[in-house]
Amino acid sequence: MLANATGIMPDSLKFEADRHFFERGLDGVDVVVHGRHSHERQPHSYLRRRLILTRQVPAFAADPSNEKALFWNPAGASFEQALAVLGTPDGSVGVIGGTDVFGMFLDRYDVFHLSRAPDVRLPGGRPVFRDVPTRTPEEVFASRGFHCGQRQLLDSAKGVAVVSWQRSSKSL
Ligand SMILES: NC(=O)c1ccc[n+]([C@@H]2O[C@H](COP(=O)([O-])OP(=O)(O)OC[C@H]3O[C@@H](n4cnc5c(N)ncnc54)[C@H](OP(=O)(O)O)[C@@H]3O)[C@@H](O)[C@H]2O)c1
Repeated sequence: MLANATGIMPDSLKFEADRHFFERGLDGVDVVVHGRHSHERQPHSYLRRRLILTRQVPAFAADPSNEKALFWNPAGASFEQALAVLGTPDGSVGVIGGTDVFGMFLDRYDVFHLSRAPDVRLPGGRPVFRDVPTRTPEEVFASRGFHCGQRQLLDSAKGVAVVSWQRSSKSL
């Protein structure tokens, strides 16, 4: 689960080392992509170009509060068009959720960094992919051509670790 049943990411799911891993990753991409409820709210967020998915616009709209952001509706324009409008047609991209946005890009990821906190339970919460918990995220990756890559322990006391799932044909 990436959030609880009310759509909030609770403090029980927040870990310092995971936050650092996430921040470092986003500092290395040209564009951040997320649904309307998944802004990462980090110190460097204001520096990042971003695509915000919403059905409230036909295809694109400028974000009046952020000149680096573009509202995008995939029903009205392709991802390639969105990157071009944002001025980053060949940029590296970090997709940060939520559920439907993670699922939408399953055929495009080079790598998906999946962090797990084994002792946290969020009954009825928002899953990382729609098929979860019917299938585990690992089963979803395997069925979509990913293989299990590097595992890094982020917080040994809490058992939090991140596994970098990679496309079989690509390397990091
Ligand atoms: N633990 C984690 O790693 C993690 C990762 C991501 C998110 N989260 C948490 O999860 C919660 C939000 O999850 P969520 O799944 O509700 O949020 P979300 O994907 O950020 O937002 C959902 C909204 O995004 C837009 N959207 C999504 N898919 C779309 C599509 N295919 N086409 C057009 N618009 C689309 C829609 O906006 P409109 O309503 O404007 O049409 C939809 O209501 C937050 O608490 C966030 O902090 C946690």
